[in-house]
Amino acid sequence: RWNDGRLELIDQRRLPLEFEYVACEDAVQTARAIRDMVVRGAPAIGCTAAYGVALEARRHEGAAPAQYDAALEASFRVLAESRPTAVNLFWAIARMRQCHAQTRSGPAKAAAEALLQLAKQIHSDDIEICRAIGRHGAPLIAERARVMTHCNAGALATAGHGTALGVIRSARDAGKRISVIANETRPYLQGARLTAWEMVQENIPVTLVTDNMAGHLMQRGSVDVIVVGADRIAANGDTANKIGTYMVAVLARRHRLPFYVAAPTSTFDPEAADGSAIEIEERPGSEVTGYRGVRWAPEGVKVRNPAFDVTPAELISGIICEKGVVLEPNRERIAALVR
Ligand code: MRU
Repeated sequence: RWNDGRLELIDQRRLPLEFEYVACEDAVQTARAIRDMVVRGAPAIGCTAAYGVALEARRHEGAAPAQYDAALEASFRVLAESRPTAVNLFWAIARMRQCHAQTRSGPAKAAAEALLQLAKQIHSDDIEICRAIGRHGAPLIAERARVMTHCNAGALATAGHGTALGVIRSARDAGKRISVIANETRPYLQGARLTAWEMVQENIPVTLVTDNMAGHLMQRGSVDVIVVGADRIAANGDTANKIGTYMVAVLARRHRLPFYVAAPTSTFDPEAADGSAIEIEERPGSEVTGYRGVRWAPEGVKVRNPAFDVTPAELISGIICEKGVVLEPNRERIAALVR
């Protein structure tokens, strides 16, 4: 939220045990909040970056034009370096950059105000977009469906309502008595900490499982449909999302279960021809060898910690965005809807 000239972010590192806000007053602090996972989730990262630019513009609105320009260029750079995979970050920075190009020759105060208004617009649009995703996705969820989701693509990961959890919320609001199976989402536990928390808050029945239980539950007929979010969708429909999503998609195909991706059009990257062009963030090994100061792996062990994986389009039953649903996504169908 924007409050009294500052950006305030729910500290998602502490949920669900504590609910606290972290304040950001400039672009560097905002970039650090993204990098350190105070805020995470592709659309939320985009909204946050937009406010980071606006903060920097306000800080320099009294400066000479060259200094104002330099400060904004530095903010674009530091924010773009915060995390590599979610394309919404670069989408939001590109929009702010365009606004800067259009306003920079006028008075700096008006230019800074225009950037703040655009950040607020990106923020409020995202809530509406998530509600539209929910409206398009809800009909795909049957009465009494048991919906598996991976990671957190909820209100916390967006400006509100959520993408995958937005579909779930909208299906519930339409009167469907659905329940959710939340995959824990190792190693960062977004499912256990954030999705489970959101669903409990909403009184939507939720069952928490570890990621390696997904296959067993599908085999025993305990899952009806899978809905996940996305960090970047390539032109051919290949989708980067939280590590483990690919594994769930393979299992869903094996068990003939529908597997849906829910994401705004700002998550589509027409410049990535397919999933191989998507940069996958590697995160610190300490997230795998332990958690919050407790270490369970031996010193000296090698660790990999890719934060995302790519699900090939052929495993995706449909992509739900604010403009509608692309069933069996491919390059042509995506281009026709998103354009
Ligand atoms: O590393 P994170 O927590 O930022 O990863 C988040 C995800 O993978 C989400 O599923 C994705 O960003 C969609 S959020 C609506």
